[in-house]
Amino acid sequence: MTSDLKSQYCTRFSSEKQIFVCDPIPLFMSEKVTPEHLQQVHKQALETFNKIETLESLQVFTGNLVGKKSAMGDWFKQLKALDVEAKKELGPKLQEFKTYWEQACLDKQNQLETQALNQKLASDFIDVTQAYPSQKGALHPLSQVQRHIESIFTGMGFEIADGPEVETEWHNFDALNVPANHPARDMQDTFFVNSKNDRSDLNSVLRTQTSNIQIRKMLENGAPVRIIAPGRVYRNEDVDATHDAMFYQVEGLVVDKDISVSHLKGTLETMLSAVFAKPMKIRIRPGYFPFVEPGLEVDIWWEYIDKNGEEKGRWLEFCGAGMVHPNVLRNSGVDPEEFTGFAFGFGLTRLVMMKYGIEDIRLLSSNKREFLQQF
Ligand code: PHE
Repeated sequence: MTSDLKSQYCTRFSSEKQIFVCDPIPLFMSEKVTPEHLQQVHKQALETFNKIETLESLQVFTGNLVGKKSAMGDWFKQLKALDVEAKKELGPKLQEFKTYWEQACLDKQNQLETQALNQKLASDFIDVTQAYPSQKGALHPLSQVQRHIESIFTGMGFEIADGPEVETEWHNFDALNVPANHPARDMQDTFFVNSKNDRSDLNSVLRTQTSNIQIRKMLENGAPVRIIAPGRVYRNEDVDATHDAMFYQVEGLVVDKDISVSHLKGTLETMLSAVFAKPMKIRIRPGYFPFVEPGLEVDIWWEYIDKNGEEKGRWLEFCGAGMVHPNVLRNSGVDPEEFTGFAFGFGLTRLVMMKYGIEDIRLLSSNKREFLQQF
């Protein structure tokens, strides 16, 4: 009898290939089945049965007790071999045992399955009505300032213009009064895309300045013209905290009758005061750019608090500007006898750095969330 009741351990391989073992379940086998034996097994089975908590254990239990190759299957075989009297005594008991345990196993299976399902439902439950802490995206600081500048200029009657970043050498240099071999082509560390042709309108460069838009706009629409052109420019620079091989500029061009340097000054002061939300002072001094005559440098009066907490101010270079060179007007089909104009080009990237106190230009193209989340 004791050997009949030895336990069977159930091992299974789950999908993660982990072995897992169920509770020890007796085999319930016996060499000779008798009514007393049935009683004993019933008691033992109840004990085991009440402890079963998993479907796996129940499956083994059911298999051992009432399944095809179970103890009970064996007892029914033994029953056939008994004489009539013994059959009469044992038969109904065996049947009763069978009915009881088949039902009990089925009930327990339902109960465990429902329990498992409820557990899964509880753990899978998602409350779609619950507020989820979401993170809002925002425009990149460059885009924010660019949009602000665009709205300031459109408020002054300017149009926003755009043009190619891969530009002909002609639009980027020749038409802007920068002749071949002029040092200005090197001054701007040009990336040449294709420079094998002897005609500059067949060669291409990554534009080194947004000034190409001056030419394109005047060729397209003639004069008068009043535009700004924000966009990317490229220079073959060694990258460090203040230099990048790609940065943003904003070009400005006004060509009309009787345009003078004072229009330029007023326009830039208005724009800067709006960007920094306080009156900004600028100064103008001579500078050199082949496409303007006179060429000008514009400085901005920059107020800041120094390390000792003292209020300080100093002049900072802000942009190149000037009165559009007659050759540039001519190259763009505009009569310099009839029209004059001013142009400027400032670094939008640098302006953003000044506005927010960003000390490393590389942060602006780094995609670092800790950095971008501040704007
Ligand atoms: N294109 C010049 C630069 O990139 C700036 C500039 C624009 C100067 C227009 C004068 C007039 O440095």
